[in-house]
Amino acid sequence: MTARLNVNIDHVATVREARKTIEPSVVEAANLCEKAGADGITIHLRQDRRHIQDRDLEQLRSVVSTYLNLEHAVTDEMLLIAERVRPDAVSLVPESPNEITTEGGLDVAGNVPAIADAVRRLKAVGIHVSIFIDPSIGQIDAAAEAGADQIEICTAEYAEMTLDREDQSSDPEKVAAEIARIAAAAKYAKEKGIVVAAGHGLTTKNVGALASMPEISEFNIGHHIISRSIFIGLENAVTEMIEAINVR
Ligand code: PXP
Repeated sequence: MTARLNVNIDHVATVREARKTIEPSVVEAANLCEKAGADGITIHLRQDRRHIQDRDLEQLRSVVSTYLNLEHAVTDEMLLIAERVRPDAVSLVPESPNEITTEGGLDVAGNVPAIADAVRRLKAVGIHVSIFIDPSIGQIDAAAEAGADQIEICTAEYAEMTLDREDQSSDPEKVAAEIARIAAAAKYAKEKGIVVAAGHGLTTKNVGALASMPEISEFNIGHHIISRSIFIGLENAVTEMIEAINVR
């Protein structure tokens, strides 16, 4: 079975918020992603509301017919919103005010009681709970202890290594080692009965090595798809990513 694709549409809202206007519409974006075959829509409601707004979440909850995955920080404000709006899934992520994007996974091992409490609250209202973590055995054990249904392996380091920057070429040995680290984490989590997802910085070029891992059942991919959509349209960008994932 191939992995599912949830398209992260945060950056559709980023373009809208650049002008504080009404376009482009995240609802239209979600509809087009679903039409193109996406299995779900992911959004990150950040505490600073730099892209997705509370109203977007409410509207998407009513129009997304596939699967709505809400990423948020472990705060009481966010937990209250999730409990009220009830996305299908919540992905708990770390958040710091000045970061450009999510920087690495959540330190579950160092915060088990608070995270376990968040997981319990979300599960109590029927939400599937995922925790975004680095590919580390210690963090997987902690996520299991906290009661998570799912982990999402942070692929940021892998993505950075595989990026074809003009000033740096990728080191095949380092890339292979990072792929092995992700594969080991995915296998370990699956054996513990935890659903395994992956995401961050993935592109049509670098997703293949991870899509071939049978333990990974879901990808959350945003920036690359939205970037590609500028040139080829959103539906084509989603189709292109689904084709890149369908390597198994
Ligand atoms: N997964 C998580 C937990 C994230 O925080 C993000 C970025 O919001 C993504 C996946 C998607 O990353 P990208 O936009 O780089 O594809």
